[in-house]
Amino acid sequence: MRTQVVIIGSGPSGLLLGQLLAGIGVDNVILERASREHVLERVRAGVLEQGTVDLLEEMGVGRRLHADGLRHDGISLAFDNRLHRIDLAGLTGGKHVTIYGQTEMTRDLMEAREAAGLPTVFEAADVRPRGFDGGAPYATYEKDGASHRIDCDFIAGCDGYHGISRRSVPEAAIRTFERQYPFGWLGLLAEVPPADRELVYANHRSGFALCSMRSPHRSRYYVQVPLDEKLQDWSDDRFWDELRRRLPREIAEAVTTGPSFEKSLAPLRSFVAEPMRFGRLALVGDAAHIVPPTGAKGLNLAASDVRYLFEALRELFLAKSTAGIETYSAKALSRVWKAVRFSWWMTTIMHRFPDTGDFGQRIQEAELDYLVHSLAASTALAENYVGLPY
Ligand code: APR
Ligand code: PHB
Repeated sequence: MRTQVVIIGSGPSGLLLGQLLAGIGVDNVILERASREHVLERVRAGVLEQGTVDLLEEMGVGRRLHADGLRHDGISLAFDNRLHRIDLAGLTGGKHVTIYGQTEMTRDLMEAREAAGLPTVFEAADVRPRGFDGGAPYATYEKDGASHRIDCDFIAGCDGYHGISRRSVPEAAIRTFERQYPFGWLGLLAEVPPADRELVYANHRSGFALCSMRSPHRSRYYVQVPLDEKLQDWSDDRFWDELRRRLPREIAEAVTTGPSFEKSLAPLRSFVAEPMRFGRLALVGDAAHIVPPTGAKGLNLAASDVRYLFEALRELFLAKSTAGIETYSAKALSRVWKAVRFSWWMTTIMHRFPDTGDFGQRIQEAELDYLVHSLAASTALAENYVGLPY
């Protein structure tokens, strides 16, 4: 079998890229390790930058996003028992973010892919990108007890942090940068109205807390926990008590509690692999970089990588030029590192670090106080939060 682009992974990166390529008549096949149901059920991020929304609209998958997405013109930072609003729109000349679950976005993209008759192989085992050093790349995989091979012109590694694409590159050709944080986030999803109209990021001496949402009826909350915490030790009641303890009273009193229908624990880390292209293989999204969720950048970075790679592949297939492919990595990494920097910084000012003690707490409170009262500092936060230009 032959196609123009083999895409490994059907997360947001792979689905977005496949849809854009199909729009200019470039054939592509997605090879996905998991089942369709598994991909659709994963609960992940929920904050979209304008550039991500624009991308979805351009490719004709913005209908439900338009109807159900919630426009947020601000966020709040809570510390020292008080709430301070950051006017994102006012500080950025009208830019905003849109609340729309990644789960919903994945569903929209998958349905569009199926409606267009584009091929996806789910439950493809032992997928391998091969031959990408030369001019004749191909991918192999196992399915239903048989081995398969797909020849192509280019391979897009959209298979996330644990994928095979990055690990298929010779070690000497890749450099990685990593920071692990000494804590994780315990997240809970419940069918209850959100505590506030907008997101609340809270710094508290017991640890960080976040009030987020998926819709006017569905809330997403997080609390910072030590890395060795066990999910089974967290009843819903314990979660709600700990969350409310970390919020200013006005917000704590507005929290509607209820039974959770999803709970998860995730460690926080920053990770970048350089470069993001090796011959005819490009890494996209989580395959190349991970950010802690504090700035809500993971999904949006995946979308910006896709935009850069799409432009490069359009040049390759329509203008028969490799110039775009040559510069993909440098362009993508320049935006990636700025988001890595922002996510690291937001994580640093909002969380309790085990080794910095009360001195660290006071320094954070001073930084936050400066941040919310300085136009320059609030503007810097706002322009990063809504998304830096492409
Ligand atoms: N072979 C085939 N598919 C694979 C393999 C493999 N060896 N390994 C992983 N995959 C699949 C996963 O099952 C998953 O569906 O690749 C997909 C990767 O998707 P994501 O991890 O969602 O990564 P990405 O599409 O880059 O999205 C990045 O979305 O998931 C969030 O936190 C993430 O917000 C970030 C953004
Ligand atoms: C979420 O709703 O899951 C969410 C929102 C904002 C973040 C991280 C996660 O910074």
